[in-house]
Amino acid sequence: MTDHFQVKMTEMNYEKDRPKANNPVKVQDLTLRDGHQSLFATRGRTEDMIPVAEMMDNIGFWAVEVWGGATFDTMHRFLNEDPWERLRTMKRYFKKTPVSMLLRAQNLVGYRNYPDDVAKAFVQRTAENGMDIFRTFDALNDYRNFETVVKEIKAAGKHFQGCVCYTLTEPRMGGEIYNLEFYLNKAKELEEMGADSICIKDMAGLMSPYDAFELVKALKESVRPPIHLHCHFTSGMSPMTHLKAIEAGVDIIDTCMSPYAYRTSHAAIEPLVVTLYGTDRDTGFSLKAMDEINQKLEKDILPKYKHLLDDSKVSIIDTNVLLHQTPGGMLSNLVNQLREMDALDRIGEVYDLLPKVRKDLGQVPLVTPTSQIVGIQTVNNVLFDEPNDTYKMPTQQVKDICYGLYGKTPAPINPEVQKKVLKGYPRGEEPITCRPAEILESELEKAREDVNDVAADLDDVLIYALYPTTGKKFLRYKYGLEDPPAAMKPKTLEEAVKEEQLVRKARAGEVVAKKKPEDEEGLRKFTVMVDDEPFEVAVEDKNPPVVVQHAPQAAAAAPQPQAPPQPAAAPGPPPKEEPAAAAGPAKPAPAPSGGTPMKAPMPGTIIRFEKKEGDSVNEGDTVVILEAMKMENSLTAPASGTLQGLRYREGDSVAKNDVICVIG
Ligand code: CO
Repeated sequence: MTDHFQVKMTEMNYEKDRPKANNPVKVQDLTLRDGHQSLFATRGRTEDMIPVAEMMDNIGFWAVEVWGGATFDTMHRFLNEDPWERLRTMKRYFKKTPVSMLLRAQNLVGYRNYPDDVAKAFVQRTAENGMDIFRTFDALNDYRNFETVVKEIKAAGKHFQGCVCYTLTEPRMGGEIYNLEFYLNKAKELEEMGADSICIKDMAGLMSPYDAFELVKALKESVRPPIHLHCHFTSGMSPMTHLKAIEAGVDIIDTCMSPYAYRTSHAAIEPLVVTLYGTDRDTGFSLKAMDEINQKLEKDILPKYKHLLDDSKVSIIDTNVLLHQTPGGMLSNLVNQLREMDALDRIGEVYDLLPKVRKDLGQVPLVTPTSQIVGIQTVNNVLFDEPNDTYKMPTQQVKDICYGLYGKTPAPINPEVQKKVLKGYPRGEEPITCRPAEILESELEKAREDVNDVAADLDDVLIYALYPTTGKKFLRYKYGLEDPPAAMKPKTLEEAVKEEQLVRKARAGEVVAKKKPEDEEGLRKFTVMVDDEPFEVAVEDKNPPVVVQHAPQAAAAAPQPQAPPQPAAAPGPPPKEEPAAAAGPAKPAPAPSGGTPMKAPMPGTIIRFEKKEGDSVNEGDTVVILEAMKMENSLTAPASGTLQGLRYREGDSVAKNDVICVIG
């Protein structure tokens, strides 16, 4: 590195006398998208981004990522915020710095392939609402899924960044599939598609420093577009990986402001700025200016989000990534899923089976949504399979992968598994080989009709087209047709601080019980007084120990602390009470006695019924589709007979072992 130094580094006033680098590393900041998505379950609110946006605009970032990924979903589902409004607002505050987004190719900002008409409209509206850079990836690296969106990005005159999803099947780059040649070929494909830049997207933090050096060097020699590295910190390697990639000539790297950095997020920018001081790759950024931003984030913003941080472990590094080559978010979702199903003790079996399920499904990269699909299927296999009957409960998404609906998998799918799960698949039992969207029927016109009473423009229609259930509900809140639940409302800094004090006191056993403790779902409930205000607190015997539920006696002016959501990396289904309360009776009617009860094997939301009350069903017929962890599961009749006592409606939430109906 010594030849990179231009000046003697001693006795230099770094902020003033710093020479301008010949080839500064360009930096994209991810704080306002991937940062809070990784650490705070994507719960960051627009009002908490505005105070730092203008300050960040002055740093000199190549771009700021502010939209896409899970933001669209989380905003309308949990925050009662219009995702389009966020984009327009960010664009207003970032006057000098281009704004960027993460686009899941034909999956847009959702979890399935949308038809071409929806994809085109979405990209057009995103461009018109102000997006500059479209970072585009496909979970299978099947670039046929880029065709529709890239055409629109280009037509709008915007920057198309093509991603190669970086994944491994062993601890270092190489092996049968994910070797240097694979990545070079993918990059060449992107160059041919007209990529304005090429991103190596290492969502799990798998890339080791020397592999990064080799890969970036080879890419710089093989393709012309600038090379951009997106490398999560999760495993702990990324700061080293960044440095080796910079030495190999990488053009752009991704980082976060330090309060939003590390853990499953990204390396912080500040140490890198100092590392590169005075070299020919100096970023030129002012550390002082960044410190002002950090202080604001620390003092005024992050106290509102701290409860979302998964601090269940002391280590900020997840060595499971190094052991299993899986993304951190995927593992935390698996842990949550198993916990909800009272089966956390079987996590070891899930880890052991995961590579096999991945191989069965064509050695797919582990990235949203394939990481979740492989992960949840592994959980289902561990919990429900029998020695002679595997893939007993395939999720809808696994059937779709086997059918070819996500695209071509990097390796062939296990033909036995494919045949089994496609039995009775409504689109056909023979898999397709064409570009998936070619078989999808247009949806935009129908979406327009469905919400013509509540949607004011195409942006509204798209919220519904992407997320029919929660999207429609959001539109009703937006236009005042329905009141959003209290849990969706933002909390003030004062409320957040008070809530944190309360949790701390409860943990320390300093709460005063005013009510006789009662047992309900393993929770002990107390009414506690904090500064003369009553709060109802439920204390669990297990971790996480404290759930602040609500202030039942609170007057309108009193604060309404929210139930801290589980520290999930991706948003789960909405809290239980809300959809039930809005969609139907608060409590379902009691189940009839007699007959064979059909129970929910896992907690989830009822998406639709395939049978109705009074229908005669045969054992094994699909009765209901239950969404759990965003995967659809077909629940089949446990016996033959007549379906009775249907106790739920579509959209209702059920807990594990809730009786959905009875077959008698
Ligand atoms: Co990321």
